[in-house]
Amino acid sequence: MLAGKNILLIISGGIAAFKSLDLIRRMRERGASVTPVMTQAASEFVTPLSVSALAGVQVYQDLFDLTAESDMGHIQLSRSADLIVVAPASADLLAKMANGLANDLASTLLLATDTPVLIAPAMNVRMWDHPATQRNLAQLVADRVHIVGPNPGDMACGEYGLGRMSEPLEIIDAIAAHFAPRPLDGHKVLVTSGPTHEPIDPVRYIANRSSGAQGTAIAAALQDLGADVRFVTGPADVPPPNGVHVIQVESAQDMFDAVKANLDVSCAIFAAAVADWRVENASGSKIKKQNGALPELSLTENPDILAHVAQLGTDARPPLVIGFAAETDDVIENATAKRARKGCDWIVANDVSPETGIMGGSENQAILVTEQGADQWPRLSKGDVAAKLAERIADQILGTS
Ligand code: C5P
Repeated sequence: MLAGKNILLIISGGIAAFKSLDLIRRMRERGASVTPVMTQAASEFVTPLSVSALAGVQVYQDLFDLTAESDMGHIQLSRSADLIVVAPASADLLAKMANGLANDLASTLLLATDTPVLIAPAMNVRMWDHPATQRNLAQLVADRVHIVGPNPGDMACGEYGLGRMSEPLEIIDAIAAHFAPRPLDGHKVLVTSGPTHEPIDPVRYIANRSSGAQGTAIAAALQDLGADVRFVTGPADVPPPNGVHVIQVESAQDMFDAVKANLDVSCAIFAAAVADWRVENASGSKIKKQNGALPELSLTENPDILAHVAQLGTDARPPLVIGFAAETDDVIENATAKRARKGCDWIVANDVSPETGIMGGSENQAILVTEQGADQWPRLSKGDVAAKLAERIADQILGTS
């Protein structure tokens, strides 16, 4: 699984750095080449000489090491890797990563790359439990950094608790899992998400309420299964997942154009809350208040993007087209009728009555309406709804359902 892989190993300061020597040996035994980078603190725990002897190549330590800069440059160093492993990842380095600091070679490499990153945290249990570290970790999870460990156990400082770095073989398993083939490898998918903004004038717009949380979670879940995700998003509250191909749009018309340009996909999921109408006579300059006289806004209908795509001929239509139905009553009946009306394959329906707390919340209760009928899912986090939907999509695309 690791043969031929190029791993950039960043060793930060901590007593667990001694385990990184074994980690290097085990990665190389499995056919990976390892480029080591050490922070200054790391070299207080293990010597650069031992690290480079085990890696079989030089160790990079200094951001201002001019020989290395002319050799390959720190940008190149981080981008040429298949995976960056940070082991041990100290509380300090986690904080730098979470906040985008770049004041030494390790943190600069981590900021300058879009290569996937796996961290193996190691620190004192109180440092691990500290709200600042937990905040940083939450940010790193949101930034799609992969995490292995830490484990509970006795610590070098004499305390007991969570904070011991994972053992080298556990880290190897996490690396191998990262490189394992995934069901949607080689498949492109399209996801629309967020609201659209329909201008009234340069400073005003009409829009639907939508945080973009569910669409974003679906894009991330499909990416986790290996899909190459085209993410067409209106102005959402949540940032798009790292690593997906993001196409930012404002209006329904922009979204329609972006969707039409990205239909060479195995599946298209329309999670966006598209405004049904736009202002036909939107003004190019700010409309002024005029002594109580109201502006005349005339509305016109936006294109129904989902219906358009779902009703394309087989040569242009993605094989699986999925729409959403946010309903406040008769959810299954309305969603079933919507599936027929739009011509899509599946509808993910949910009850967005205010008392459910679903709109803008972290949970969702979905009903999947397909040709076979309605399948009611339990109330789950939006992440779990996305994972369940992504699994169903993978089964359908691969013909295993
Ligand atoms: O018609 P309604 O807005 O209830 O349908 C919701 C579904 O249709 C969602 O999947 C939404 O993304 C999609 N839609 C669309 N273009 C529109 C309106 C809705 O793609 N103009």
